[in-house]
Amino acid sequence: MDFEKLNGLKRTHKCTEVSINDLGKEVVLMGFTDSVRNLGGLIFINIRDISGVIQTVFSTDDKEMYEKAAKVRGEYVIAVVGTVAKRDDAVVNPNMKTGEIEIIAKELRILSSAKTPPFYIVENSDVKEELRLQYRYLDLRRPDMQRRMMLRSQVAKIVRDYYSENGFNEIETPILIKSTPEGARDYLVPSRVHNGNFYALPQSPQLYKQLLMLSGMDRYFQIAKCFRDEDLRADRQPEFTQIDLEMSFVEEDDVMTINEGLLKRVFKEVKGIDLETPFLRMPYSEAMDRFGSDKPDTRFGLEIKDISDVVKGCDFSVFTGALDNGGSVRAINAKGLGDKISRKNIDSLGEFVKTYKAKGLAWIKVNPDGIQSPIAKFFDEEKMNAILKAVDAEENDVIFIVADKNSVVFASLGALRIEIAKRYDLIDPEKYNFLWVTDFPLLEYDEEENRFVAMHHPFTAPKDEDLHLLESDPGKVRAKAYDIILNGVELGGGSMRIYNSELQEKMFEVIGLTKEEANNRFGFLIEAFKYGTPPHGGMAYGFDRMLMLLDGCDSIRDVIAFPKVQNASELMTNAPDIVDLKQLDELGIAIVKKEE
Ligand code: AMO
Ligand code: AMP
Repeated sequence: MDFEKLNGLKRTHKCTEVSINDLGKEVVLMGFTDSVRNLGGLIFINIRDISGVIQTVFSTDDKEMYEKAAKVRGEYVIAVVGTVAKRDDAVVNPNMKTGEIEIIAKELRILSSAKTPPFYIVENSDVKEELRLQYRYLDLRRPDMQRRMMLRSQVAKIVRDYYSENGFNEIETPILIKSTPEGARDYLVPSRVHNGNFYALPQSPQLYKQLLMLSGMDRYFQIAKCFRDEDLRADRQPEFTQIDLEMSFVEEDDVMTINEGLLKRVFKEVKGIDLETPFLRMPYSEAMDRFGSDKPDTRFGLEIKDISDVVKGCDFSVFTGALDNGGSVRAINAKGLGDKISRKNIDSLGEFVKTYKAKGLAWIKVNPDGIQSPIAKFFDEEKMNAILKAVDAEENDVIFIVADKNSVVFASLGALRIEIAKRYDLIDPEKYNFLWVTDFPLLEYDEEENRFVAMHHPFTAPKDEDLHLLESDPGKVRAKAYDIILNGVELGGGSMRIYNSELQEKMFEVIGLTKEEANNRFGFLIEAFKYGTPPHGGMAYGFDRMLMLLDGCDSIRDVIAFPKVQNASELMTNAPDIVDLKQLDELGIAIVKKEE
């Protein structure tokens, strides 16, 4: 089929730029056919472009044009020349931005026809995500997706403006780099020129941005693509985008302050919300104690209380056993939810905590007629009252208790408080609770690898006052590291860096790298530190996560134009895919099929 050409025809407006102030004006509009209604004597075609929808009208006065309009189907790409007219009062559509007007068509051009799409191009489609991703280009025609893509662009601009105004230079760092695994798994890229050698795709620009500080670039930022071969979740993609920055001659507070300014600007410009700064700062140990998490959601209470001291020496062997093994007994009080939380609900919450390795969930319900609890038999009245007092219990409260090693207690109660808040509607969706979690442990013990690993990354500086413990008690050393948390999501994180080659070498040693391994992987860094290094630090945000939270959607897939699914494939192009044998030959690669 031969389609009509633009041939010099110029669009005068986007669809919703036309308004009641343009009555009588001739306009040229172009877009997709949103809907067609043929009433016999009149045909109404709604045109949609990135700005929205407007109604155009074709009458039988111009027979040829009318017949052409009758051929137009959904998603046809058309151009309409016409005059702006006021709609009759009876047919004004208050739900449409252009609902007061319509375009009386003079000329119609069909620029492209369209197959019937596999789903309707409408806002808030409930089509299966798999189908949406297979036809992502159509999914991206939907107004909510277009709005998200524009939000992405808007926030990127605010970020660039803000950092530029504050003396940061945007500098690109390489995508093909040396593999320095420490953290997630690297994506590898084989080299043709250096057969048998591989580049890695960067998990973050970390080393390069530190080297830029060494180069005297003073302040750097970048909206950077990062790649991590790790298990995917709703807030994790194998390739994602960071807002990455680094600053010279600073301490923790300087990085946090400048970034509070950024978040303030973003939230003001995008949502019209005035964030109060400085944000709350909470040491890691307090976050764990009160919320069982290093990314606490502080929009609701349900804080965790340590009742180990209260239950010490009781008759319940599960509790005393946990304490004897160095664990703890902790509780949360579901305040005022007694009449809502049934026995069946309690059982289901008991099942829920098992996914976090808790062996059980003890509970106490404060009913109007007294205490109801499967563990009441283990406590005399005085002890029971002491427990209730410790968690500030009153009538109609339900207390949940987990006893185990601390990591299990925190994980299960931390998740339980969020689950209860969700199930019983305790979260105010209008709230944006920011906080910094600070003073993270520098290292954590990896049971599988049988060694300490860096909790953030091995370039993070220890706190000066803990430095003396680095060899004697590495698990106790705190780091000059901080995460920015919004509503229970880790939005970003960063740290002050080690900038001294001896300390950096010591750090590699503590995480179990031999001198040789450290030299092979990071020799260039250790060498670089010897040529004069400004004290420096920085951080990186998950840009996709920031957009997800700004938009209020549930998955970062919704704010990424072409995301990957759970198994890291892209449904539209079917990547990853096999390649030609010739390509493999050139790379000197032979595939050995893994057994399923
Ligand atoms: P980190 O590894 O904490 O720090 O990453 C920073 C932020 O990036 C986001 N993020 C992700 N987003 C989507 N998908 C993923 N797979 C993913 N992984 C991480 C998170 C996280 O907070 N170089 C350091 C930063 C620094 O120290 O300056 C770094 O990469 O929101
Ligand atoms: P039992 O006497 O074994 O029936 O357990 C009494 C209650 O203690 C039940 O509600 C169990 O779910 C709970 N329970 C069992 N193990 C634990 C644990 N590790 N922490 C908290 N409660 C537990």
